[in-house]
Amino acid sequence: MSVEVSRGLENVIIKTTGLTYIDGINGILRYRGYDINDLVNYASYEELIHLMLYGELPNRQQLNQVKGIINESFEVPEQVISTIFSMPRSCDAIGMMETAFGILASIYDPKWNKTTNKELAVQIIAKTATITANIYRAKEGLKPKIPEPSESYAESFLAATFGKKPTQEEIKAMDASLILYTDHEVPASTTAALVASSTLSDMYSCIVAALAALKGPLHGGAAEEAFKQFVEIGSVENADKWFEEKIIKGKSRLMGFGHRVYKTYDPRAKIFKTLAKSFAEKNENVKKYYEIAERIEKLGVDTFGSKHIYPNTDFYSGIVFYALGFPRYMFTSLFALSRVLGWLAHIIEYVEEQHRLIRPRALYIGPEKREFKPIELR
Ligand code: CMC
Repeated sequence: MSVEVSRGLENVIIKTTGLTYIDGINGILRYRGYDINDLVNYASYEELIHLMLYGELPNRQQLNQVKGIINESFEVPEQVISTIFSMPRSCDAIGMMETAFGILASIYDPKWNKTTNKELAVQIIAKTATITANIYRAKEGLKPKIPEPSESYAESFLAATFGKKPTQEEIKAMDASLILYTDHEVPASTTAALVASSTLSDMYSCIVAALAALKGPLHGGAAEEAFKQFVEIGSVENADKWFEEKIIKGKSRLMGFGHRVYKTYDPRAKIFKTLAKSFAEKNENVKKYYEIAERIEKLGVDTFGSKHIYPNTDFYSGIVFYALGFPRYMFTSLFALSRVLGWLAHIIEYVEEQHRLIRPRALYIGPEKREFKPIELR
């Protein structure tokens, strides 16, 4: 019997979804039918939370309900804060996030319940802002701060993180980033969350599984890696030499380029580029990195375009995060902050509508049956 092994589960359809549509050939991304550009331009992250979890954009009353749940749910158990602040400041931010969600899983251990799943998801999204802001604060040696109700989730998060009121441009960029990273069908982290949810493990534990998969440089870690390249290059004059030595001769992967699904320019990268450009026009440091990135983009597309390798979402997002004041070590956590909505929407869709234990098989290629030899005879 011939059996085909799908390496990397490439092209395996693991579920149906009404959440995210990707056309990787034409560079189209839609959440529940709405184009990503329209959502970034006209919707808020809170509207997106309602859209993803409840299926439709909210009316005014529904939006106020979502905002109400968020504003009431920023608090986390004291053990979460004390643990984050007792960890060495050198700890990895995503590792700290896994720890925080592990504590929530231990304390709450919520059971799946169709009448409360969605509201619980909104509460978890609020708590993710608290955890993310306080990971930054702990690593910077600041005091804990719980987000407070404000005009928006993005504003509450930024204000808690940096301890000052953000500007309208910063709030808008944070909101856009939350929307852009919300969901992307079933990449490794969402698949990891789905595997955990298929055993009916609780939502917090599913997020721990997702975070573990997100942490790697081939997934969530790519924004950090992409920005690291721009720092290493240092100036736009050095870009061509760096590209030749590192990417062409050194055969290193260009981080922030290439995608399993997109075979053209990632539509999210275009929006992040516009946001980065807008910050670059007002800030000389941002401008330096923006110019380096633009030059590397040109060299990357000239070299890899024929192989359908183009900038992905992580190529310019780090410059936007940097412009907002975040250090590089926070970039993957910012990805997680946004993606928690996608993870939750997918696992709720899966558990409520199409649940089945995920249990694939492996094709055995080891030795035939062998005689056991006692240790003295080996
Ligand atoms: N730079 C140079 N060559 C590349 C790159 C790159 N960034 N990406 C793919 N290739 C080449 C690769 O060397 C291979 O060439 P060949 O066929 O000659 O051996 C070919 O393209 C196919 O690569 P692959 O790794 O088999 O393809 P994949 O579908 O597994 O790759 C990827 C997807 C994202 C892992 C890969 O493009 C990559 O490593 N990119 C850099 C890391 C990155 O930016 N990751 C963020 C992904 S988007 C956000 C997210 O989903 O988290």
